Amino acid sequence: MPENASTAAQGVDDLFYFINNINYFFFGLIVLILIWFALRYRSKPSEHATFNNDAPVHNTPLELTWTAIPLLIVGVLFWLGMDGYLHLTDAPDNSYPVQVTSQKWSWTFEHPEYGVTEAAELTVPLGRPVRLLMTSPDVIHSLFIPAFRVKQDIVPGRYSSLWFEATKPGQYRLYCTEYCGKDHSKMLAVVNVLPEDEFQEQLGKLAREYEEISDHDLPAYALARLYNRCASCHSLDGKSGTGPSFKGLWERTKNGTTVFKDGSTLKDYMGPGGQFEVPENYIRDSILNPQNHIVQNYTGAMPTFKGQLKERQIDALVLMLKNYDKLVDEQGNVIENPDLTGVDISTGVDQ
Ligand code: CUA
Repeated sequence: MPENASTAAQGVDDLFYFINNINYFFFGLIVLILIWFALRYRSKPSEHATFNNDAPVHNTPLELTWTAIPLLIVGVLFWLGMDGYLHLTDAPDNSYPVQVTSQKWSWTFEHPEYGVTEAAELTVPLGRPVRLLMTSPDVIHSLFIPAFRVKQDIVPGRYSSLWFEATKPGQYRLYCTEYCGKDHSKMLAVVNVLPEDEFQEQLGKLAREYEEISDHDLPAYALARLYNRCASCHSLDGKSGTGPSFKGLWERTKNGTTVFKDGSTLKDYMGPGGQFEVPENYIRDSILNPQNHIVQNYTGAMPTFKGQLKERQIDALVLMLKNYDKLVDEQGNVIENPDLTGVDISTGVDQ
């Protein structure tokens, strides 16, 4: 069994072992009887088969027994299973709320009480019930945290919910367990369980993070904290994925050389009077309205990030792409402690 780190985990494990032990018992019993019958009633070469007309055709007490015992067992299993299911369905009233958006191929966790949005990482308090209200703008996903023994499908067009109460501080894996397309295996996240005081401190910090950060630090912030939402589709090393690589993206944008599906180039939309007076606006528009211009040879699989990113976070992403060469090396590795002297902090949006 994986690590046991929620209040529900022990009950789920106990029921699993109970069912498993019943299976072991009956498997053993049936195999023993099978062997015994095979030996006892085997046909010997010296004997001819004879049929006895007086042989019993049925035995009422025996038949009642082999109906009643399994019925009792499945009745108990149903009771225990239903009881556990209802417990997992019904979140306590004082649960800490988190809104979850699952989309190809990333997780977004919003904390309405703090105005904080996390990507690929979910920070929760220890020893307090947490309720996830989950939705998907694209296809079916399924959220699974093995250490908590909770799993729930997320279906487009409706909300589903799930709750847990973590019992051990630490980091736990969170998976998508619905095959949601080719990068399904990259749809991973971490649940970070913190004791109450550390939790409040961390959420307070996250709430102020991009407000307090200096413009100068925004590009590095975007790469460290926001890029993980882009990572499954946009590589750093130039390899094309579901979307174009971020490597060289600013050069292609700045020079207007990006070619779109309909054969037009970005240059056609740029400049005074055009849709994008400055190239930064094209990046901004691609984040908010990704279907407007689809780059040639790509399918336009990107969902909109409207409402999921704050203005300052969009600025940060634009600056990350503009200062890409200072942040990422030729091979696509993130440079640790990058030298950001002379970093370009104009987002162009106000121009
Ligand atoms: Cu989402 Cu698999």
